[in-house]
Amino acid sequence: MKANPGRPEAISFQRGKARPRSVATKPGRVEWVSPALWSVFAGEGTDAHRIASGPDWWLERFGLDLLMSYQEVRGRDAALAELDERCRAYAYRPARVFGKHLPRHASERGVPTLLRGDPAGSLETEVTEAGLRYGLDFAIGYSAGLFIDQRANRARLRQGHPKRLLNAFAYTCSFSVAAARAGAETVSVDLSRRSLTRGEENFRRNGLDPSAGHRFIADDVLATLPRLARRGEKFDAIILDPPTFSRNQSGEAFQVRRDFHRLVELAIDVASPGAKILLSVNHSEMRVADLEQAGRGALRNRGRSGRFSQTAALPDFPPGVGAKTVWMELA
Ligand SMILES: C[S@@+](CC[C@H](N)C(=O)[O-])C[C@H]1O[C@@H](n2cnc3c(N)ncnc32)[C@H](O)[C@@H]1O
Repeated sequence: MKANPGRPEAISFQRGKARPRSVATKPGRVEWVSPALWSVFAGEGTDAHRIASGPDWWLERFGLDLLMSYQEVRGRDAALAELDERCRAYAYRPARVFGKHLPRHASERGVPTLLRGDPAGSLETEVTEAGLRYGLDFAIGYSAGLFIDQRANRARLRQGHPKRLLNAFAYTCSFSVAAARAGAETVSVDLSRRSLTRGEENFRRNGLDPSAGHRFIADDVLATLPRLARRGEKFDAIILDPPTFSRNQSGEAFQVRRDFHRLVELAIDVASPGAKILLSVNHSEMRVADLEQAGRGALRNRGRSGRFSQTAALPDFPPGVGAKTVWMELA
């Protein structure tokens, strides 16, 4: 559904907390995360992160597996030639390396293929992020199950201790798990029943009962939000992370550029005073400023006010790479 699940598109950069610098600051350069940053991740209980970023490829670690996303085989092979030496510096031995070609058109997307390692091993695996567990499946499709560029937003959500989370476009419910572990009730909405089922498994992986205070709604977000509003449901945290384009069960199209503004208005209708709403997109032509503009317009139309803040940049991503996100906090 996502136009580019690797999210290699521009975001506005905000300097984060002082952490080991790790990646290229100039587009086009190849940089690997430093062993110092690797240790920071290990200390946080995170084994899902980027390892390296190049001009037309990047390499992600998912536990003992690596996933190389690439446009050109030449770039992929140059990175792989360096891999063993880099891994020695991290004191890390990957079990497998998967490769994922980044096609020009979404219709050409395929599943990752095994480049190195045992072909007989299970393609399902589990990773950790800040001590939370998430399931991955390298056989299921173009995306294995966790978008690592949302790590800082998941952490921020968790640290905010929300009481009721609405996770729209929930996918495998990683935001819901993060909020639930902080004590929240959650409602996760996604067109894909299969993704929500994986989400329920993610709850169980973390010792959470998915039927205790949590709901999973397999339906169109644009139809679900008005229904929740009619019932008077309110949420103090809302995640809006839609794809660039999708079609619902009836064939109706969702186009983020056209529909984002309306989506934010519908979210405001179910937001309690003081609610925090994450606005997130992965469209090459939409910037954080466009998200803020949509947010301000929606607040005005609903007679509400709010303020905007960004999450600290990820130390394993080059500036300008990843989902474009901003938090809108209602007055
Ligand atoms: C990029 S994923 C969201 C990622 C998720 N926020 C995360 O961080 O893991 C987009 C999801 O939106 C779902 N989707 C697309 N159009 C939808 C719609 N109109 N209503 C509900 N879900 C939709 C897709 O099935 C997909 O799971």
